[in-house]
Amino acid sequence: MIKHAFDGMPFMHRFELSAERQAVRYNARNLSRTFERQLVEERAKSAVFFGHVQDLSMWDRCIATVRRFREILFASHVKSDPSSAMVGVTATPNFPMPQQWLEQSQGTNGEYHLVSKTDLNLLQQVHANTLEPKRLYTYGDYDERLSGDLAASHHQYDPVTEETFNYSIKLGPMPKLTVFSVSRSGQVSILAEITHRRLPSGAAGTRIRPSYIHSFMLTQNHVIIPEYPLYYHGADILISGSAVGSYVWDEQSPTYFHVISRRQDIGHIVTIPADSFFSFHNCNAWDSVDENGDPVITLDTCAFSNADVIYQLHSFGTYLRGPHQQQQKPSINQTRPKGMNTPPIRQPSFGDLRRYQLTWNRDVSTASASYTTIARNIEFARFSQHYALRQYQFAWACQLLKPKTEKEAERYILVKIDLNTGTTTAYNEPRYSCSEPIFIPKSINGNEDDGAVVSLVNVIGAHGPEEDSSFLLILDAHTMEETARCTIGPYNISTFHGSYIDSDFQNVSIN
Ligand SMILES: [Fe+2]
Repeated sequence: MIKHAFDGMPFMHRFELSAERQAVRYNARNLSRTFERQLVEERAKSAVFFGHVQDLSMWDRCIATVRRFREILFASHVKSDPSSAMVGVTATPNFPMPQQWLEQSQGTNGEYHLVSKTDLNLLQQVHANTLEPKRLYTYGDYDERLSGDLAASHHQYDPVTEETFNYSIKLGPMPKLTVFSVSRSGQVSILAEITHRRLPSGAAGTRIRPSYIHSFMLTQNHVIIPEYPLYYHGADILISGSAVGSYVWDEQSPTYFHVISRRQDIGHIVTIPADSFFSFHNCNAWDSVDENGDPVITLDTCAFSNADVIYQLHSFGTYLRGPHQQQQKPSINQTRPKGMNTPPIRQPSFGDLRRYQLTWNRDVSTASASYTTIARNIEFARFSQHYALRQYQFAWACQLLKPKTEKEAERYILVKIDLNTGTTTAYNEPRYSCSEPIFIPKSINGNEDDGAVVSLVNVIGAHGPEEDSSFLLILDAHTMEETARCTIGPYNISTFHGSYIDSDFQNVSIN
Protein backbone atom coordinates (compact mmCIF):
# COMPACT_ATOMS: atom_id res chain seq x y z
CA MET A 1 0.00 0.00 0.00
CA ILE A 2 1.33 3.44 -0.94
CA LYS A 3 0.05 6.12 1.40
CA HIS A 4 2.06 9.17 0.34
CA ALA A 5 -0.02 11.42 -1.90
CA PHE A 6 3.04 12.26 -4.01
CA ASP A 7 3.62 8.61 -4.84
CA GLY A 8 0.26 7.04 -5.65
CA MET A 9 -0.33 5.86 -9.20
CA PRO A 10 -1.22 9.17 -10.86
CA PHE A 11 -4.63 9.47 -12.46
CA MET A 12 -5.35 12.19 -14.96
CA HIS A 13 -8.91 13.55 -15.03
CA ARG A 14 -10.37 15.30 -18.06
CA PHE A 15 -13.52 17.42 -18.12
CA GLU A 16 -15.11 18.76 -21.29
CA LEU A 17 -17.70 21.42 -20.51
CA SER A 18 -20.34 22.08 -23.16
CA ALA A 19 -22.41 25.25 -22.78
CA GLU A 20 -24.44 24.22 -25.80
CA ARG A 21 -25.49 20.87 -24.31
CA GLN A 22 -25.30 22.07 -20.67
CA ALA A 23 -23.29 18.94 -20.04
CA VAL A 24 -19.92 17.76 -18.78
CA ARG A 25 -18.05 14.86 -20.37
CA TYR A 26 -15.65 13.20 -17.93
CA ASN A 27 -12.96 10.58 -18.38
CA ALA A 28 -9.96 9.58 -16.28
CA ARG A 29 -7.05 7.17 -16.56
CA ASN A 30 -4.30 5.62 -14.49
CA LEU A 31 -1.11 6.92 -16.16
CA SER A 32 1.22 4.28 -14.68
CA ARG A 33 -0.58 0.98 -15.09
CA THR A 34 2.55 -0.93 -16.13
CA PHE A 35 4.51 0.43 -13.18
CA GLU A 36 1.67 -0.58 -10.88
CA ARG A 37 1.81 -4.11 -12.28
CA GLN A 38 5.60 -4.23 -11.84
CA LEU A 39 5.19 -3.09 -8.26
CA VAL A 40 2.58 -5.75 -7.47
CA GLU A 41 4.74 -8.42 -9.11
CA GLU A 42 7.73 -7.19 -7.06
CA ARG A 43 9.62 -6.20 -10.21
CA ALA A 44 10.04 -2.55 -9.14
CA LYS A 45 12.28 -2.93 -6.12
CA SER A 46 14.77 -0.36 -7.41
CA ALA A 47 12.10 2.28 -8.05
CA VAL A 48 12.67 5.76 -6.61
CA PHE A 49 9.72 7.32 -4.77
CA PHE A 50 9.16 10.75 -3.26
CA GLY A 51 8.14 9.74 0.27
CA HIS A 52 7.16 6.07 0.09
CA VAL A 53 9.66 3.52 1.39
CA GLN A 54 9.30 -0.03 0.09
CA ASP A 55 9.33 -2.85 2.63
CA LEU A 56 12.33 -4.85 1.39
CA SER A 57 14.66 -7.41 2.90
CA MET A 58 18.24 -6.32 3.57
CA TRP A 59 19.40 -8.36 0.56
CA ASP A 60 16.79 -6.79 -1.75
CA ARG A 61 17.72 -3.33 -0.46
CA CYS A 62 21.36 -3.89 -1.38
CA ILE A 63 20.45 -5.21 -4.86
CA ALA A 64 18.10 -2.23 -5.39
CA THR A 65 20.82 0.26 -4.42
CA VAL A 66 23.31 -1.28 -6.82
CA ARG A 67 20.68 -1.28 -9.58
CA ARG A 68 19.85 2.41 -9.01
CA PHE A 69 23.51 3.37 -9.32
CA ARG A 70 23.76 1.28 -12.48
CA GLU A 71 20.64 2.76 -14.02
CA ILE A 72 21.87 6.28 -13.05
CA LEU A 73 18.49 7.02 -11.57
CA PHE A 74 15.94 7.23 -14.32
CA ALA A 75 17.49 6.83 -17.74
CA SER A 76 16.15 3.29 -18.04
CA HIS A 77 12.54 4.51 -18.15
CA VAL A 78 13.08 6.23 -21.41
CA LYS A 79 11.86 4.40 -24.50
CA SER A 80 10.28 1.71 -22.36
CA ASP A 81 6.56 1.10 -21.86
CA PRO A 82 4.84 4.54 -21.75
CA SER A 83 3.01 3.75 -18.49
CA SER A 84 6.02 2.24 -16.71
CA ALA A 85 6.80 5.31 -14.55
CA MET A 86 5.00 7.65 -12.17
CA VAL A 87 4.96 11.11 -13.79
CA GLY A 88 1.59 12.91 -13.67
CA VAL A 89 2.23 15.85 -11.29
CA THR A 90 1.22 18.56 -13.75
CA ALA A 91 -1.02 18.22 -16.82
CA THR A 92 0.08 20.52 -19.63
CA PRO A 93 -1.74 20.81 -22.96
CA ASN A 94 0.16 22.32 -25.91
CA PHE A 95 3.53 21.54 -24.34
CA PRO A 96 6.10 21.88 -27.15
CA MET A 97 7.46 18.64 -28.57
CA PRO A 98 11.06 17.99 -29.65
CA GLN A 99 11.72 19.62 -33.01
CA GLN A 100 12.98 16.38 -34.60
CA TRP A 101 9.73 14.59 -33.76
CA LEU A 102 7.64 17.36 -35.29
CA GLU A 103 9.73 17.19 -38.46
CA GLN A 104 9.39 13.39 -38.61
CA SER A 105 5.61 13.40 -38.12
CA GLN A 106 4.57 15.84 -40.80
CA GLY A 107 1.67 13.62 -41.80
CA THR A 108 0.14 13.86 -38.34
CA ASN A 109 0.67 17.57 -37.78
CA GLY A 110 -2.29 19.27 -36.20
CA GLU A 111 -2.37 16.60 -33.50
CA TYR A 112 -2.91 18.09 -30.04
CA HIS A 113 -0.18 17.52 -27.48
CA LEU A 114 -0.77 16.83 -23.81
CA VAL A 115 2.19 16.15 -21.52
CA SER A 116 2.44 15.22 -17.86
CA LYS A 117 5.50 16.32 -15.91
CA THR A 118 7.24 15.66 -12.61
CA ASP A 119 10.29 16.89 -10.68
CA LEU A 120 12.57 14.46 -12.50
CA ASN A 121 13.91 14.91 -16.00
CA LEU A 122 11.07 12.74 -17.22
CA LEU A 123 8.02 13.60 -19.31
CA GLN A 124 5.05 11.54 -20.40
CA GLN A 125 3.09 12.29 -23.53
CA VAL A 126 -0.57 11.43 -23.07
CA HIS A 127 -3.33 11.22 -25.70
CA ALA A 128 -5.18 14.52 -25.48
CA ASN A 129 -8.61 12.88 -25.54
CA THR A 130 -8.38 9.30 -24.26
CA LEU A 131 -5.49 10.12 -21.83
CA GLU A 132 -3.72 6.94 -22.93
CA PRO A 133 0.04 7.22 -22.19
CA LYS A 134 1.90 7.39 -25.51
CA ARG A 135 5.56 7.69 -24.57
CA LEU A 136 8.07 8.50 -21.84
CA TYR A 137 10.87 10.84 -22.75
CA THR A 138 13.26 13.44 -21.30
CA TYR A 139 14.39 16.97 -22.03
CA GLY A 140 17.44 15.28 -23.55
CA ASP A 141 15.15 14.40 -26.48
CA TYR A 142 14.83 18.16 -27.15
CA ASP A 143 18.57 18.76 -26.86
CA GLU A 144 21.31 16.42 -25.66
CA ARG A 145 22.69 19.19 -23.41
CA LEU A 146 19.55 18.78 -21.24
CA SER A 147 20.55 15.44 -19.79
CA GLY A 148 20.37 16.35 -16.07
CA ASP A 149 18.54 14.21 -13.54
CA LEU A 150 15.99 16.73 -12.23
CA ALA A 151 13.63 19.34 -13.71
CA ALA A 152 10.68 21.32 -12.38
CA SER A 153 7.16 19.89 -12.45
CA HIS A 154 6.01 23.44 -13.10
CA HIS A 155 7.51 24.88 -16.26
CA GLN A 156 7.07 28.59 -17.01
CA TYR A 157 5.30 29.90 -20.09
CA ASP A 158 5.27 33.29 -21.76
CA PRO A 159 1.83 33.63 -23.39
CA VAL A 160 3.08 36.43 -25.67
CA THR A 161 6.19 34.76 -27.13
CA GLU A 162 4.78 31.23 -26.57
CA GLU A 163 8.17 30.14 -25.17
CA THR A 164 8.36 27.43 -22.51
CA PHE A 165 11.06 27.54 -19.82
CA ASN A 166 12.53 24.95 -17.48
CA TYR A 167 15.88 23.78 -16.15
CA SER A 168 17.72 20.52 -15.66
CA ILE A 169 19.96 19.75 -12.69
CA LYS A 170 22.77 17.24 -12.93
CA LEU A 171 23.30 15.54 -9.56
CA GLY A 172 26.69 14.39 -8.33
CA PRO A 173 29.79 15.91 -6.73
CA MET A 174 29.83 18.76 -9.29
CA PRO A 175 26.16 19.64 -9.79
CA LYS A 176 25.15 21.72 -12.80
CA LEU A 177 22.00 23.76 -13.37
CA THR A 178 21.11 24.27 -17.05
CA VAL A 179 18.38 26.85 -17.73
CA PHE A 180 16.67 26.69 -21.12
CA SER A 181 13.74 27.75 -23.22
CA VAL A 182 11.86 25.82 -25.90
CA SER A 183 10.03 27.60 -28.70
CA ARG A 184 6.60 26.47 -29.86
CA SER A 185 8.33 24.59 -32.69
CA GLY A 186 10.65 22.74 -30.27
CA GLN A 187 13.80 24.86 -30.79
CA VAL A 188 15.96 24.86 -27.63
CA SER A 189 17.97 27.85 -26.39
CA ILE A 190 20.39 27.37 -23.48
CA LEU A 191 20.15 30.52 -21.32
CA ALA A 192 22.73 29.60 -18.67
CA GLU A 193 24.83 26.72 -17.37
CA ILE A 194 25.42 27.37 -13.69
CA THR A 195 27.89 25.53 -11.49
CA HIS A 196 28.74 28.39 -9.09
CA ARG A 197 26.78 31.13 -7.37
CA ARG A 198 27.44 34.62 -8.70
CA LEU A 199 27.28 36.68 -5.53
CA PRO A 200 27.15 40.48 -5.82
CA SER A 201 30.08 41.10 -3.47
CA GLY A 202 32.50 39.95 -6.13
CA ALA A 203 33.72 37.19 -3.84
CA ALA A 204 34.54 33.92 -5.53
CA GLY A 205 31.23 32.16 -6.04
CA THR A 206 30.69 28.98 -4.07
CA ARG A 207 29.51 25.88 -5.88
CA ILE A 208 25.73 25.44 -6.11
CA ARG A 209 24.15 22.52 -4.28
CA PRO A 210 21.36 20.37 -5.76
CA SER A 211 18.19 21.71 -4.19
CA TYR A 212 14.61 20.40 -4.28
CA ILE A 213 12.91 22.91 -6.56
CA HIS A 214 9.31 22.27 -7.62
CA SER A 215 8.70 25.55 -9.49
CA PHE A 216 10.45 28.81 -10.40
CA MET A 217 9.61 32.29 -11.73
CA LEU A 218 9.63 34.12 -15.06
CA THR A 219 9.42 37.79 -16.04
CA GLN A 220 9.58 39.45 -19.45
CA ASN A 221 13.39 39.70 -19.19
CA HIS A 222 14.45 37.16 -16.57
CA VAL A 223 14.23 33.60 -15.33
CA ILE A 224 14.58 33.30 -11.54
CA ILE A 225 15.61 29.90 -10.15
CA PRO A 226 15.45 29.58 -6.36
CA GLU A 227 18.08 27.46 -4.61
CA TYR A 228 16.39 26.52 -1.33
CA PRO A 229 18.61 25.14 1.45
CA LEU A 230 16.68 21.86 1.14
CA TYR A 231 19.39 19.77 -0.44
CA TYR A 232 19.72 16.28 -1.88
CA HIS A 233 22.38 14.86 0.42
CA GLY A 234 25.10 12.90 -1.36
CA ALA A 235 23.89 9.69 -2.94
CA ASP A 236 21.22 9.12 -0.28
CA ILE A 237 18.42 9.09 -2.86
CA LEU A 238 20.06 6.12 -4.61
CA ILE A 239 20.62 4.27 -1.35
CA SER A 240 17.20 4.89 0.24
CA GLY A 241 15.07 4.99 -2.93
CA SER A 242 13.20 7.95 -1.41
CA ALA A 243 13.66 11.66 -2.15
CA VAL A 244 12.38 12.66 1.31
CA GLY A 245 14.93 10.32 2.90
CA SER A 246 17.73 12.16 1.11
CA TYR A 247 16.74 15.74 1.97
CA VAL A 248 18.66 17.88 4.46
CA TRP A 249 17.43 21.33 5.52
CA ASP A 250 20.51 23.50 6.13
CA GLU A 251 19.02 26.20 8.32
CA GLN A 252 22.32 28.12 8.36
CA SER A 253 22.20 28.60 4.62
CA PRO A 254 20.20 31.33 2.87
CA THR A 255 17.78 30.76 0.02
CA TYR A 256 19.52 31.95 -3.14
CA PHE A 257 17.74 33.51 -6.11
CA HIS A 258 19.66 32.86 -9.33
CA VAL A 259 18.68 35.63 -11.77
CA ILE A 260 19.23 34.67 -15.41
CA SER A 261 18.63 36.89 -18.43
CA ARG A 262 16.30 35.62 -21.15
CA ARG A 263 18.96 36.92 -23.56
CA GLN A 264 21.46 34.17 -24.33
CA ASP A 265 24.34 36.68 -24.67
CA ILE A 266 23.86 37.85 -21.06
CA GLY A 267 23.22 34.59 -19.19
CA HIS A 268 23.53 34.32 -15.40
CA ILE A 269 23.39 37.87 -14.00
CA VAL A 270 23.52 37.51 -10.24
CA THR A 271 22.80 35.20 -7.29
CA ILE A 272 20.94 37.05 -4.54
CA PRO A 273 20.86 35.57 -1.02
CA ALA A 274 17.70 35.95 1.09
CA ASP A 275 16.62 34.70 4.51
CA SER A 276 16.04 30.97 4.22
CA PHE A 277 12.61 29.79 3.16
CA PHE A 278 11.13 26.94 1.14
CA SER A 279 8.33 27.01 -1.38
CA PHE A 280 6.54 24.52 -3.60
CA HIS A 281 4.58 27.02 -5.65
CA ASN A 282 5.05 30.53 -6.92
CA CYS A 283 2.52 32.96 -8.25
CA ASN A 284 3.18 35.81 -10.72
CA ALA A 285 6.36 37.91 -11.24
CA TRP A 286 7.28 41.01 -13.24
CA ASP A 287 10.07 43.46 -14.05
CA SER A 288 10.31 47.17 -13.27
CA VAL A 289 13.05 49.73 -12.55
CA ASP A 290 13.58 51.81 -9.42
CA GLU A 291 14.29 55.54 -9.15
CA ASN A 292 18.00 54.91 -9.91
CA GLY A 293 17.15 53.03 -13.06
CA ASP A 294 18.22 49.74 -11.48
CA PRO A 295 16.24 46.60 -12.31
CA VAL A 296 13.63 45.32 -9.84
CA ILE A 297 11.94 41.92 -9.94
CA THR A 298 8.74 41.57 -7.94
CA LEU A 299 7.62 37.99 -7.35
CA ASP A 300 4.91 36.34 -5.28
CA THR A 301 5.51 32.95 -3.67
CA CYS A 302 3.83 30.63 -1.14
CA ALA A 303 6.63 30.43 1.43
CA PHE A 304 7.36 28.20 4.42
CA SER A 305 9.93 29.52 6.91
CA ASN A 306 11.48 26.02 7.21
CA ALA A 307 11.13 22.63 5.55
CA ASP A 308 9.08 20.84 8.23
CA VAL A 309 6.29 20.55 5.66
CA ILE A 310 8.35 17.92 3.81
CA TYR A 311 7.78 15.41 6.62
CA GLN A 312 4.22 16.65 7.27
CA LEU A 313 3.21 15.89 3.69
CA HIS A 314 2.65 12.20 4.39
CA SER A 315 -0.85 13.10 5.62
CA PHE A 316 -1.80 15.20 2.58
CA GLY A 317 -5.18 14.11 1.24
CA THR A 318 -6.06 12.06 4.34
CA TYR A 319 -8.70 14.17 6.02
CA LEU A 320 -9.62 14.56 9.67
CA ARG A 321 -13.32 13.84 9.69
CA GLY A 322 -14.01 15.84 12.84
CA PRO A 323 -12.36 17.75 15.72
CA HIS A 324 -12.10 14.53 17.76
CA GLN A 325 -9.35 13.38 15.35
CA GLN A 326 -7.16 16.45 15.94
CA GLN A 327 -3.61 15.53 16.79
CA GLN A 328 -1.34 18.52 17.17
CA LYS A 329 1.42 17.23 19.43
CA PRO A 330 3.57 14.19 18.71
CA SER A 331 3.48 11.50 21.34
CA ILE A 332 7.28 11.47 21.70
CA ASN A 333 9.79 14.31 21.78
CA GLN A 334 10.77 15.75 18.45
CA THR A 335 14.36 15.94 17.19
CA ARG A 336 15.84 17.62 14.11
CA PRO A 337 18.40 15.14 12.73
CA LYS A 338 18.22 16.57 9.20
CA GLY A 339 17.04 20.08 10.05
CA MET A 340 13.36 19.08 10.00
CA ASN A 341 11.28 18.23 13.07
CA THR A 342 10.58 14.54 13.43
CA PRO A 343 8.25 12.86 14.16
CA PRO A 344 6.19 15.47 12.32
CA ILE A 345 3.03 17.04 13.64
CA ARG A 346 0.05 17.05 11.32
CA GLN A 347 0.40 19.97 8.91
CA PRO A 348 -1.04 22.96 10.84
CA SER A 349 -1.39 25.35 7.89
CA PHE A 350 -0.02 26.25 4.47
CA GLY A 351 2.77 28.82 4.11
CA ASP A 352 2.41 32.56 3.66
CA LEU A 353 1.90 34.38 0.39
CA ARG A 354 4.97 36.63 0.29
CA ARG A 355 5.89 39.35 -2.18
CA TYR A 356 9.67 39.49 -2.76
CA GLN A 357 11.52 42.33 -4.38
CA LEU A 358 14.92 41.57 -5.90
CA THR A 359 17.18 44.36 -7.11
CA TRP A 360 20.80 44.87 -8.15
CA ASN A 361 22.84 47.77 -9.45
CA ARG A 362 24.26 48.11 -12.95
CA ASP A 363 27.73 46.67 -12.27
CA VAL A 364 26.19 43.99 -10.01
CA SER A 365 28.35 45.08 -7.07
CA THR A 366 25.30 45.19 -4.79
CA ALA A 367 22.05 43.25 -4.74
CA SER A 368 19.29 42.69 -2.24
CA ALA A 369 16.13 40.72 -1.56
CA SER A 370 13.30 41.78 0.75
CA TYR A 371 9.70 40.74 1.22
CA THR A 372 6.34 41.62 2.67
CA THR A 373 3.64 39.13 3.66
CA ILE A 374 0.40 39.54 1.70
CA ALA A 375 -1.73 36.79 3.28
CA ARG A 376 -1.30 33.79 5.61
CA ASN A 377 -1.97 30.11 5.01
CA ILE A 378 -1.97 30.17 1.19
CA GLU A 379 -1.14 27.42 -1.32
CA PHE A 380 -1.90 26.53 -4.97
CA ALA A 381 -2.21 30.19 -6.01
CA ARG A 382 -3.36 30.85 -9.59
CA PHE A 383 -4.07 34.04 -11.52
CA SER A 384 -5.26 35.29 -14.89
CA GLN A 385 -2.95 34.29 -17.73
CA HIS A 386 -3.71 37.67 -19.33
CA TYR A 387 -1.78 39.23 -16.43
CA ALA A 388 1.20 36.85 -16.59
CA LEU A 389 4.57 38.63 -16.23
CA ARG A 390 2.97 41.96 -15.27
CA GLN A 391 1.51 43.66 -12.24
CA TYR A 392 -1.84 42.16 -11.21
CA GLN A 393 -4.39 42.46 -8.44
CA PHE A 394 -6.07 39.09 -7.91
CA ALA A 395 -5.06 35.52 -7.16
CA TRP A 396 -7.18 32.48 -6.30
CA ALA A 397 -5.75 29.88 -3.93
CA CYS A 398 -6.40 27.26 -1.22
CA GLN A 399 -6.30 27.69 2.55
CA LEU A 400 -6.06 24.82 5.07
CA LEU A 401 -8.75 24.83 7.77
CA LYS A 402 -9.02 22.54 10.78
CA PRO A 403 -12.36 21.17 12.00
CA LYS A 404 -13.83 23.16 14.87
CA THR A 405 -17.23 21.53 15.20
CA GLU A 406 -18.60 18.01 14.72
CA LYS A 407 -20.16 19.14 11.44
CA GLU A 408 -16.83 20.16 9.96
CA ALA A 409 -13.84 18.26 8.61
CA GLU A 410 -10.26 19.25 7.87
CA ARG A 411 -10.43 20.87 4.46
CA TYR A 412 -8.81 22.98 1.81
CA ILE A 413 -11.08 25.94 1.11
CA LEU A 414 -10.87 28.36 -1.82
CA VAL A 415 -10.02 32.04 -1.43
CA LYS A 416 -9.82 34.97 -3.77
CA ILE A 417 -7.00 37.31 -2.66
CA ASP A 418 -6.89 41.04 -3.37
CA LEU A 419 -3.11 41.39 -3.54
CA ASN A 420 -3.24 45.14 -2.98
CA THR A 421 -4.96 44.83 0.39
CA GLY A 422 -4.43 41.18 1.41
CA THR A 423 -8.17 40.74 1.94
CA THR A 424 -9.69 37.39 1.05
CA THR A 425 -13.12 36.23 -0.09
CA ALA A 426 -13.76 32.56 0.68
CA TYR A 427 -15.73 29.64 -0.68
CA ASN A 428 -15.99 27.55 2.48
CA GLU A 429 -18.51 24.78 3.12
CA PRO A 430 -18.14 22.56 6.22
CA ARG A 431 -17.24 19.22 4.58
CA TYR A 432 -15.96 20.38 1.21
CA SER A 433 -12.23 20.13 0.45
CA CYS A 434 -11.22 21.91 -2.75
CA SER A 435 -8.31 21.38 -5.13
CA GLU A 436 -6.27 24.11 -6.85
CA PRO A 437 -8.59 26.77 -8.32
CA ILE A 438 -8.16 27.35 -12.05
CA PHE A 439 -9.16 30.85 -13.15
CA ILE A 440 -10.86 31.22 -16.54
CA PRO A 441 -11.26 34.83 -17.74
CA LYS A 442 -14.52 35.76 -19.42
CA SER A 443 -12.79 37.90 -22.03
CA ILE A 444 -9.47 39.61 -22.60
CA ASN A 445 -11.04 43.04 -22.22
CA GLY A 446 -13.04 42.45 -19.03
CA ASN A 447 -12.08 43.22 -15.44
CA GLU A 448 -9.24 41.11 -14.10
CA ASP A 449 -11.57 39.02 -11.88
CA ASP A 450 -14.37 38.74 -14.42
CA GLY A 451 -14.67 35.02 -15.11
CA ALA A 452 -15.01 31.62 -13.51
CA VAL A 453 -12.99 29.47 -11.13
CA VAL A 454 -13.00 25.70 -11.59
CA SER A 455 -12.01 23.27 -8.84
CA LEU A 456 -12.46 19.60 -7.95
CA VAL A 457 -14.18 19.23 -4.59
CA ASN A 458 -14.04 16.25 -2.24
CA VAL A 459 -16.99 15.90 0.12
CA ILE A 460 -15.61 14.28 3.29
CA GLY A 461 -18.09 11.84 4.78
CA ALA A 462 -18.76 12.42 8.47
CA HIS A 463 -18.54 8.75 9.45
CA GLY A 464 -16.09 7.30 6.95
CA PRO A 465 -15.09 6.88 3.31
CA GLU A 466 -18.40 5.14 2.53
CA GLU A 467 -20.01 8.60 2.71
CA ASP A 468 -17.37 10.33 0.55
CA SER A 469 -18.16 11.91 -2.81
CA SER A 470 -16.69 14.42 -5.26
CA PHE A 471 -17.87 17.02 -7.75
CA LEU A 472 -16.57 19.56 -10.25
CA LEU A 473 -17.28 23.07 -8.97
CA ILE A 474 -17.64 26.26 -11.01
CA LEU A 475 -17.57 29.54 -9.09
CA ASP A 476 -18.17 33.12 -10.14
CA ALA A 477 -14.57 34.33 -9.73
CA HIS A 478 -15.68 37.83 -8.75
CA THR A 479 -18.06 36.89 -5.92
CA MET A 480 -16.78 33.33 -5.14
CA GLU A 481 -20.40 32.14 -5.24
CA GLU A 482 -21.35 28.84 -6.82
CA THR A 483 -22.45 28.94 -10.45
CA ALA A 484 -22.74 25.22 -11.14
CA ARG A 485 -21.56 21.78 -10.11
CA CYS A 486 -21.34 18.35 -11.67
CA THR A 487 -21.23 15.19 -9.56
CA ILE A 488 -18.26 12.91 -10.28
CA GLY A 489 -18.84 9.91 -8.05
CA PRO A 490 -19.15 8.41 -4.54
CA TYR A 491 -15.43 8.68 -3.75
CA ASN A 492 -12.68 11.25 -3.04
CA ILE A 493 -10.00 12.14 -5.59
CA SER A 494 -6.54 13.35 -4.59
CA THR A 495 -5.37 15.92 -7.13
CA PHE A 496 -2.86 18.75 -7.19
CA HIS A 497 -2.86 20.69 -10.42
CA GLY A 498 -4.87 21.38 -13.54
CA SER A 499 -4.87 23.30 -16.80
CA TYR A 500 -7.69 24.79 -18.86
CA ILE A 501 -7.87 25.15 -22.64
CA ASP A 502 -10.70 26.43 -24.82
CA SER A 503 -12.66 24.44 -27.41
CA ASP A 504 -9.96 25.25 -30.03
CA PHE A 505 -7.31 23.71 -27.74
CA GLN A 506 -5.80 27.14 -27.13
CA ASN A 507 -4.08 27.86 -23.79
CA VAL A 508 -6.27 29.75 -21.30
CA SER A 509 -4.72 28.73 -17.97
CA ILE A 510 -1.79 26.35 -18.16
CA ASN A 511 0.19 24.81 -15.34
FE1 LIG B 1 3.00 21.53 -7.71
